[in-house]
Amino acid sequence: MLDLDSAKDILYKAEKQNPGKWVKHSLNVAEAAKRLANELNLDTNRAYIYGLLHDIGRIYKGIGVKHIIDGYHYMNELGHPDIARYCLTHTFFIKDVKSSCCLWDIIDKEAYEIQEYLDTHEYDLYDKIIQIADCIGDTESFVTIERRLIDVHLRKGVNENTIMTWNAIFKLQAELEELLGSSIYSIFPEVKMEIEKKLVKDYLTLK
Ligand SMILES: [Fe+2]
Repeated sequence: MLDLDSAKDILYKAEKQNPGKWVKHSLNVAEAAKRLANELNLDTNRAYIYGLLHDIGRIYKGIGVKHIIDGYHYMNELGHPDIARYCLTHTFFIKDVKSSCCLWDIIDKEAYEIQEYLDTHEYDLYDKIIQIADCIGDTESFVTIERRLIDVHLRKGVNENTIMTWNAIFKLQAELEELLGSSIYSIFPEVKMEIEKKLVKDYLTLK
């Protein structure tokens, strides 16, 4: 397993190649994953590293589904298939490559590769916490999943899969809350502060 310092080196090297808000987002996703892992008696160090590198495919500047397959290939090339896994699964709440709400910027060969992976791997709890952590961690702090989804879709639009994906996301939240025995936000007190301090015009891109 990759150690934390090496994981950070990989992230910051990628930031040099493609600077952007995605790096701060990755740090918040890592922290969110760590807290969830702690509550669920999983390995917090592993969860943090998976969160830190889930979007590492952005090193190649792909903005849609491409960053998913690029991250999967990149971490495999670096010799870390255990981390490559989360680069691929984090956006597929439904195990259908066509279900992604991301921009479709991959070729057929890449789509087949993603689908084959999804068909042959069962999700574990780490897949699930990285998926939810990705919804809670934004670039500055932690937010409600509803707020983050609205922010993303006001900026990027919706497609025919959006409602189906939202259903899957909230079902996953419910599943994790069942395991936690509490609201998912009980371990993210920052969410309350974010809601109280931020005006909607400072949060959403209103046209
Ligand atoms: Fe992400």
